[in-house]
Amino acid sequence: MDMEKLVSLCKRRGFIFPSSEIYGGLNGFWDYGPLGVELKRNIKDAWWRDNVTGRDDMVGLDCSIIMNPRVWEASGHVGGFVDPMVDCRQSKERYRADQLYVFGIAREMAGAGDEHVHEGATGREFPAWVEHRVSAVGASPLDAWEAARPKAAKLLKTKPAGLGDPPAGTTALYLHLAPEERAKVVGPAADEPGTLTEPRQFNLMFKTSVGALEDASSVAYLRPETAQGIFANFKNVLDTSRVKLPFGIAQIGKSFRNEITPRNFTFRSREFEQMEIEFFCRPEDSQEWYAYWRKERFDWYVRHGLRSDRLRLRDHDPDELAFYSQATADIEYEFPFGVSELEGIAHRGHYDLGQHQKFSGRDLTYFDEETKQRFLPHVIEPSAGADRGTLAFLCEAYAEDEVGGESRTVLKFHPRFAPIKAAVFPLVKKDGMPEKADAIYRSLKRRHNVYYDEKGAIGRRYRRQDEAGTPYCLTVDGQSLVDGTVTIRDRDSLVQKRVPSDNLAGLIGDLLDG
Ligand code: GAP
Repeated sequence: MDMEKLVSLCKRRGFIFPSSEIYGGLNGFWDYGPLGVELKRNIKDAWWRDNVTGRDDMVGLDCSIIMNPRVWEASGHVGGFVDPMVDCRQSKERYRADQLYVFGIAREMAGAGDEHVHEGATGREFPAWVEHRVSAVGASPLDAWEAARPKAAKLLKTKPAGLGDPPAGTTALYLHLAPEERAKVVGPAADEPGTLTEPRQFNLMFKTSVGALEDASSVAYLRPETAQGIFANFKNVLDTSRVKLPFGIAQIGKSFRNEITPRNFTFRSREFEQMEIEFFCRPEDSQEWYAYWRKERFDWYVRHGLRSDRLRLRDHDPDELAFYSQATADIEYEFPFGVSELEGIAHRGHYDLGQHQKFSGRDLTYFDEETKQRFLPHVIEPSAGADRGTLAFLCEAYAEDEVGGESRTVLKFHPRFAPIKAAVFPLVKKDGMPEKADAIYRSLKRRHNVYYDEKGAIGRRYRRQDEAGTPYCLTVDGQSLVDGTVTIRDRDSLVQKRVPSDNLAGLIGDLLDG
C-alpha cells in the first residue's frame, strides 16, 4: 500500500486534514474531517463498549488534561520524560554553487536509528524558492513533506531550473518558503559536515501556566498520557464505586507530547488520543492477568479487521523493560513506513500507586475483605493510541481492485467502524424514486449514520461510497415502486440482493452486529 495515496485519499474525502491548514499547518497536529471523525469515534466507541460497558470488572473515568504538577513529579515525567536531542549547526559561510547560495539547517535526534533526520535547504541569494532536502533512513517523500511543511508557502511540482540533483539517498522536494523562513536564508552550506552540539535532554511535556501570574509556581503541564489521572483517582474510584479486585479503570482522552520529530502522517503527533486501561489485581494473580490482557488486546484488533500478518505481538527483551516492569509486550503493525507500535501492554507492578502514595502522603492501599490484608495492588496497563489505531485500520482497509473493467479504490472497514453505514440512492431522478429513497433514508437515519445521494450515474455513486468505506448501498429502482423491495449491494463482494424495505434499519443493524 502506498502511503501517499492513502494520505491523499484522506485529504480528498475528508478523513484527515493538516491542522490549521489555511495558515500553513502546524507540524505534528491533525484535524479529523467529517468521515474521519466518525471513523475514529466508532473505534473509540467499540473500545469503550468492549472494555468498559460490556464488562463487569471495569469502570470509566474522564480526568482533566491539566493536573497538579506534582502528579508528573510522582510519575517520573518531570525528571525522566526526555529524548536526547542534538542540534547540528553548520558553518555560517556562504558559498556560490551554480549561481546558488546554499544554506542548511539541520537538527538531528540522537538515539534510535530510524529517528535520524537531517534537513537541508538550498536557495538563491534572493530566493523565490528553495530546495528543501530531508534524508532519513527509510524516508519517503511523505516524510520529507511532513518535515518541510511548516516552512513552506507552496510545494512546487517540478524542480526549478538551475538546481543540482539531490545527494544520493535523499528525497528532494521543491517549495516556496514561507516568508519568515525565507528571511532565515543565510549562510551555512547544506552539504558541508555540520558540528553537532552535545546531546541535551529535551522534556517532551508541553508546559503552560495556570492563573494570571506567570512564574515558577504557576507552571503546569498538558498531560503526556491519560494513565496518571487514573492512578491519581484510584482512591476516589475505590471509595465510590464498590469495585473489588480484580478490576480496571479505563479512560479515553487527549494527550500531548512535544515530539522532536513528529512524522509519518498521524502516527507520531504532538496531540493525540489514548485509550488506556489500568487493571488492578492481587500481586499473585498479576502474571495471569498480564497474559490475559496481552491476548485480549491482540485479539481485539484481529476481530476488527487487522487480520493480515501485518499485525504482530512482540515481547520486550528483559533489557528493554522499565526497572519496575516484570513484562511488557507491544502490539505492532507493519505500516508502509515500517513496523511500529500500536499499543503496549505493560505489567507495572505497584510502581505508580507506590509513587503517588509517597508524593501525596495519602494511603492508596487496598483492603482485601477476604484475607483481611492491606496492600498496593499490582497493575496491568494496556495502553493504545486512538489515532495510531485509526491509521492502522485505514492502512489495512485500503485496497484497489477492478469492477467491470474499471479500477476502484475501496476502504474495506469493518462495518462497525465504517463512517457511513449505508447509502441510499434512487436509481434515477424520476417516477417517484427520489421520494421513496428519501423516505427510506429518513427512517434509517434515526438509528444509523446513512447518506443520501441522487447525483450522477449510479456506478459513480457506488464508487464514491466505496472510497468512503460504506459497507452497504441501498438502491430504489422501478421494481421498488411495484413491490416495495430495494437492492442492497455489499461493498466487498459486490453482490446485490433484493430485500423488503419495511425493516431496513433492523437489517442494517443485524449486518453491523454480524
Ligand atoms: N501510559 C503508557 C503510555 O503512555 P506509550 O507507549 O508512551 O505508553 C501508549 O503510549 C500509546 O499511545 C502508544 O502505543 C501509541 O499508540 C500512542 N502514542 C504515544 N505517543 C504518540 C504520539 N506521539 N502520536 C500518536 N500516538 C502516540
